[in-house]
Amino acid sequence: MDPVPGGCDGGRPAPPAIAFPPANTLVTMSSAVLTAVAWPYANGPRHIGHVSGFGVPSDVFSRYRRMSGDRVLMVSGTDEHGTPIQVQADAEGLTPRQLADKYNGVITQDLQGLGLSYDLFTRTTTSNHYEVVQQMFLALYKNGYVVPKTQMGAISPSTGRTLPDRYVEGTCPICGYDGARGDQCDNCGNQLDPADLKNPRSKINGEVPKFVETEHFFLDLPAFSESLGSWLSTRTDWRPNVLRFSANLAENLKPRAITRDLDWGVPVPLDGWNEQSMKKIYVWFDAVIGYLSASVEWARRTPDPDAWKAWWTDPAAQAYYFMGKDNITFHSVMWPSILLGQNGAGDRGGEPGPFGTLNLPSEVVSSEYLTMSGSKFSTSRGTVIYVGDFLREFGPDALRYFISAAGPENQDTDFTWDEFVRRTNFELANEWGNLVNRSISLAHKNVGAIPTPTAPTDDDAAMLATSRAGFDTVGELLGRNRFKQALGEAMRVIGSANKYLSDQEPWKRKDDPERRDTILHTALQVVQDANTLLTPFLPHAAQKVHEALGNTGVWAAQPQLQEVDDLGDGPSYPVLTGDYAGEAARWESTPIEVGRPLAKPSPIFGKLDPKLGETGPEWAPISS
Ligand code: MF3
Ligand code: ZN
Repeated sequence: MDPVPGGCDGGRPAPPAIAFPPANTLVTMSSAVLTAVAWPYANGPRHIGHVSGFGVPSDVFSRYRRMSGDRVLMVSGTDEHGTPIQVQADAEGLTPRQLADKYNGVITQDLQGLGLSYDLFTRTTTSNHYEVVQQMFLALYKNGYVVPKTQMGAISPSTGRTLPDRYVEGTCPICGYDGARGDQCDNCGNQLDPADLKNPRSKINGEVPKFVETEHFFLDLPAFSESLGSWLSTRTDWRPNVLRFSANLAENLKPRAITRDLDWGVPVPLDGWNEQSMKKIYVWFDAVIGYLSASVEWARRTPDPDAWKAWWTDPAAQAYYFMGKDNITFHSVMWPSILLGQNGAGDRGGEPGPFGTLNLPSEVVSSEYLTMSGSKFSTSRGTVIYVGDFLREFGPDALRYFISAAGPENQDTDFTWDEFVRRTNFELANEWGNLVNRSISLAHKNVGAIPTPTAPTDDDAAMLATSRAGFDTVGELLGRNRFKQALGEAMRVIGSANKYLSDQEPWKRKDDPERRDTILHTALQVVQDANTLLTPFLPHAAQKVHEALGNTGVWAAQPQLQEVDDLGDGPSYPVLTGDYAGEAARWESTPIEVGRPLAKPSPIFGKLDPKLGETGPEWAPISS
């Protein structure tokens, strides 16, 4: 069987042989932390709602854990199978593979621009992914958790051929929406079967499909009710929104079809099935396995192909999954069940499969929706703000700041341009940018270098104590994925520092240079500390502040885009990876070095024209 569907790679130059950095440097007492980030569909550019769910939170978390000395493996990729891809390919007159290539390219660039520090951002159309998915499928099949069953499938009465799920349209049995498709209702988001639809009709020619018995493989979810249920009942420290969603789920499990009438996807690795071009593994079954396959791919590109095991089979390793709320059940029910089945640890027992005993999620971290003026961002409805447009005009850190400070962490949240302007101008520029600028400018003008402190006062000591305490308070909140509160605490330190400067008035101390220098030294140390506290949120700005403080070298590392060879015989493809172990940022107060020359700083954050709040940008105008 050809593991990769007909990829056409034209005349791309042979990719250079790249060496991925080896497994992160070992730090004593460090934990192995897997950051598993939901895989965006490669069916269009991503909007800011998407990256507020899976993107920015997972990166803030990963950067913080790396700075704390943990060995982080952050993986994801584009989700390139299933109906979402096929429907859009039809709409654009492309093959699914062409469509996936197109948007994989766009998404990879956007995520790089946003500074998301993936160790590997890959895709689901790789040979490696196909192999891992098929191995998982077989392991579950051998343990009896994947079983064939007949169900009613649609065929076209005029041709007698199977009608793929996406070509059956009708009324959603759950919300009553009339444009629901055979596999999913875009209005309420529920997963459907074609036979569930009321008034079904063929999207191709309008005829009423005939339903006949057809065989599919099912994940036998009821065979996990005990094992999954007892595991879920121990997850008491998860965010309330995820617990609410997942509670009781284990009590009401039904078998779920994991093959579909589709011609685009991972083939079923069983005789009699793998040549059946019309039946493929269901996109969600293959996508969640991506967390494992991407970890395996990452390891295969390092000197140690078994390196993935440190994050997956060591019971001490931790695994955090990040996503928007429409993905919760797939991660709190379906993925844990697949893992239990592979492990031979469902209610029916079994043997561990080829991957050994795999870890279940430590936490499923989900955001709510980012809406705009009341409407959920959706590429089919309402105003859409694309990540690429946003980055081109405002750069990455303004968006990262907005999402972290005002994003949908616990509840649906509205994005407004007004709020964006306010946050950028009054918090980023006035509070943080100003503290950096005043402190460094004054030191540059008066001393030309980091000044020497003498005889610190109680005020100085209190200021330094406040910023040092931030490492505990902010760190504790970041460790629990309480991003809003964490950022709020960091901004409080900055507020205190601005007050300290205004109270101490170093600019009025011409007659007492020793006192002036002591104040400035204190202020610069606080800038250094606050910059460290903000690094997970604002890694690009943090690098600039690092340099403005007279330092060189990489403070916060950024993802790199590389073209890699497929590990089987598929076409080459772009991935994101990075040398994060080489960055200097550590989660601790680093003493600034007296005498280090300081140049005149340039502003870190520009201010936005307040009119933007009323009109929006040209490419996403506010409609009245
Ligand atoms: N592509 C899906 C979406 O955008 C998310 C898949 S997450 C994964 O909703 F776990 F399945 F990979
Ligand atoms: Zn519906």
